[in-house]
Amino acid sequence: MAEAVLEVEDLHTYFFNRRGVLKAVDGVSFTLYRGETLGLVGESGCGKSMTALSIVRLVPRPAARIVRGQVRLRGEDLLAKSEREMRQVRGRRIAMILQDPQASLNPVFTIGNQLVEAFAVQRRWPRRRLWTLAAEALRHVKVPEAARRLYDFPHQLSGGMKQRVVGAIALAGAPEVLIADEPTTALDVTIQLQFLRLLKELQAETQMAMLFITHDFGIVARLCDRVAVMYAGRIVEQGPVRAVFRQPAHPYTQALMASVPRLDVKVDTLATIEGQPPALDALPEGCRFAPRCPYVERRCQQAYPPMVPLQADHAAACWRLEG
Ligand SMILES: Nc1ncnc2c1ncn2[C@@H]1O[C@H](COP(=O)(O)OP(=O)(O)OP(=O)(O)O)[C@@H](O)[C@H]1O
Ligand SMILES: [Mg+2]
Repeated sequence: MAEAVLEVEDLHTYFFNRRGVLKAVDGVSFTLYRGETLGLVGESGCGKSMTALSIVRLVPRPAARIVRGQVRLRGEDLLAKSEREMRQVRGRRIAMILQDPQASLNPVFTIGNQLVEAFAVQRRWPRRRLWTLAAEALRHVKVPEAARRLYDFPHQLSGGMKQRVVGAIALAGAPEVLIADEPTTALDVTIQLQFLRLLKELQAETQMAMLFITHDFGIVARLCDRVAVMYAGRIVEQGPVRAVFRQPAHPYTQALMASVPRLDVKVDTLATIEGQPPALDALPEGCRFAPRCPYVERRCQQAYPPMVPLQADHAAACWRLEG
């Protein structure tokens, strides 16, 4: 039996500004199981990062607010916790790796100091022992000459090395959940692959659950067990990677898949999806993809479609699947 680690249910996170309400996350549900990787994909601005930030309750205040839903970590309701309790969760039980390693590292402290700091949160050990632990952690993420690197400042490391350091810091707390938000976008392709392989290895050792945010289907195919496709604040399709790649059910997923080159085939031209996603502060009544959908029907404009179960664990929100 798969063991649920993180459950997100009907999550809503809105921005409130003078012009109105922007529904960045608008009813998102998914479960992360121990040892698995769930890919969260979708176009820029669809709400992927806001979903991640909502889980650890770091949405930009006061503009954004989690207005509804549940986030449960091994059954514990995270939205009901005090800020102090949440600080025990962040970095320890749920760690994050973000797109820009530079932003996650403090430029005025050495790599060693920052790693020691991360370990010191959990261990009241003498500093010398923590320093040894820090060197081990750097070796673990395959930073060459780890012991010497501890004395470097972030700007002395390449992008790929910096991201490994961020990875080592994230893993210092032995998290149950790792959220990686486009962690390799700033890296070149070979370095990307190395970093992803490393993440997979570390995951196999610790059995942590991973939420992997990306807009790269190639990465999803390589790294993820299941995938959730997000469009305009909602998940429109979810399922095992193989099932979704073989038989994408939602017209948006189909269009996305058609617009990325297949992993095993060289493609010269990419099919593109016409039009733009709707503005999140002026969403249509019915299906949000309807204005761009080649199969649009009347009912699509009238009501948002239900999530229709297709096969084991595979479901999509489209009226056509309702029959
Ligand atoms: N500080 C902010 N103030 C107002 N709106 C914001 C703010 N941050 C994000 N948004 C809006 O919330 C929506 C969701 O943003 P989010 O960052 O989650 O998108 P994303 O899917 O992560 O995109 P990307 O792939 O570009 O990282 C977007 O429409 C964005 O414009
Ligand atoms: Mg983002």
